[in-house]
Amino acid sequence: MTMTKKLVITLLLLISIAFVHCLAFHVELEEFEPPQQEEQDVPRRGPGGRPGGRSGEGWQEESTEFPYHFGKRSFKNWFQSNEGFVKMLPKFTKRAPNLFRGIENYRFALFEMEPNTFLVPHHLDADSVVLVLQGHGVVEFVTDKTKESFHVTKGDVVRLPSGVTHYATNTNQTVPLRFVKIIVPVNNPGQFKDYFPARSQFQQSYFTGFSKEVLSASFNIPEELVGRLFSGSQQTGQGIMRRVSPDQIKELTKHATSPSNKHKETKSKHKDTSTKLRPFNLFTQDSVSTYTNDFGHFHEARPESFDQLQDLRIAVAWTNMSQGSLFLPHYNSKTTFVTFVENGCARYEMASPYSFQGEQQQQQWWPEQGGEEEEEDMSGQVHKIVSRVCKGDVFIIPAGHPVTLVSHNENFVSVGFGIHASNCTRTFLAGQENVLSNLDTVATRVTFGVGSKVAEKLFTSQNYSYFAPTTRSHQQTQEKREPSFQSIFSFAGF
Ligand SMILES: *[C@@H]1O[C@H](CO)[C@@H](O)[C@H](O)[C@H]1NC(C)=O
Ligand SMILES: *[C@@H]1O[C@H](CO)[C@@H](O)[C@H](O)[C@H]1NC(C)=O
Ligand SMILES: *[C@@H]1O[C@H](CO)[C@@H](O)[C@H](O)[C@H]1NC(C)=O
Ligand SMILES: *[C@@H]1O[C@H](CO)[C@@H](O)[C@H](O)[C@H]1NC(C)=O
Repeated sequence: MTMTKKLVITLLLLISIAFVHCLAFHVELEEFEPPQQEEQDVPRRGPGGRPGGRSGEGWQEESTEFPYHFGKRSFKNWFQSNEGFVKMLPKFTKRAPNLFRGIENYRFALFEMEPNTFLVPHHLDADSVVLVLQGHGVVEFVTDKTKESFHVTKGDVVRLPSGVTHYATNTNQTVPLRFVKIIVPVNNPGQFKDYFPARSQFQQSYFTGFSKEVLSASFNIPEELVGRLFSGSQQTGQGIMRRVSPDQIKELTKHATSPSNKHKETKSKHKDTSTKLRPFNLFTQDSVSTYTNDFGHFHEARPESFDQLQDLRIAVAWTNMSQGSLFLPHYNSKTTFVTFVENGCARYEMASPYSFQGEQQQQQWWPEQGGEEEEEDMSGQVHKIVSRVCKGDVFIIPAGHPVTLVSHNENFVSVGFGIHASNCTRTFLAGQENVLSNLDTVATRVTFGVGSKVAEKLFTSQNYSYFAPTTRSHQQTQEKREPSFQSIFSFAGF
């Protein structure tokens, strides 16, 4: 009996301590908060009542209605067989027509080819950029004049121009070849097709669009052969990915060059096409911008630096964070990133002044007007967007939106395609490279309503740039807390 009583008392004590702690924290925060904003929101995010936590349960819930996060299941199987798969995200505007109008014309796809397989020749009515995530392969381009093939591996970026016939081979005997692709259709916004010269299981040959007489005359072959080659029942035959023997692989890849092989560049007469088709690697190229420290690495190829990306104005980025690290809050001036998670899980936090409530309904009720008649949201409210993103998910970071990532208990690896990326800058809001630390002390005092001591320290206390540890113990901390956006802006340490 006494044991139980003691327990109950201890529990009650603990609860009240936690409560007082919450209150104290709230008061502390309030001193610095601009009084009119987010008053109800702040206590919920205090150490006691923050949604989520190690289990991630709370985050999951928040993420379900959250239009910026596309879970694995959002992908549609475009092709699947024992040889591999192609998965595609639906048009972004299908999810939220108003939020994603700026990236309506872009599509995102994930490919995986099993060892010893071959992706049949085809072209697209779309430009695309491919980033290899894993494995080894050869990609070959053919035009009427040229034939170029390149070895590709992890970190390689390949530009696939619209209308160029290409095919690929997984050259590794054990590891699947995985890559992601951003697709920019040229005929219709957000809509494109693949065009195959030969028929396969679910795809007809584009030659079936012609009459037999025309084909027979064009190729100068008998009509029966035309029938055998190009038409026939669609539901037979192999898929677009096929098994090939090691000998065939050798044959297929014998002329392939490595992207780093610079000799061929000077030899080629068609310099424009050749530099555009030439893959490059995010980890080895000097013109890739890189941030790196103990807590993470970030590599980004920008369209200004690479011919392959320039006209599409697409950037390609690779982030690799150690476990328990923080990608310091920042925003992109013009680029919207479509980001795919390749490994691990992270907590993604973003501030958005845009409201997305009722986006779906609006679309159904006013299909004609779309967003034209929508009312401007003048509330000045900032929506706190929190989600747990894991391997296989996609999330969107719109331009101008402050965002941060907190990695969990393993390396977090994500890759991103930046849209409208020409001359874009990334502005950090914390760390050594921090726009706010450039404010005059007076401006900081007046703006944030703090004393001069706090104003001096506010934006200069974070020693690290770009990536930082999530626990402040690495720096000069007195308490261990769950990582969050707010712990960055936590003033408890002053
Ligand atoms: C296949 O991939 C594995 C793991 O990356 C590597 O060790 C091996 O050398 C590769 N083999 C070939 C033939 O590329
Ligand atoms: C991420 O970085 C770690 C070490 O920094 C490395 O071991 C790992 O292979 C990297 N992962 C990817 C996918 O780049
Ligand atoms: C990017 O900046 C360069 C030089 O500052 C300029 O020449 C170029 O036109 C800009 N590109 C775009 C797309 O704004
Ligand atoms: C971090 O900042 C503190 C005070 O601002 C300074 O004393 C310390 O040397 C810095 N540490 C590093 C690793 O720069």
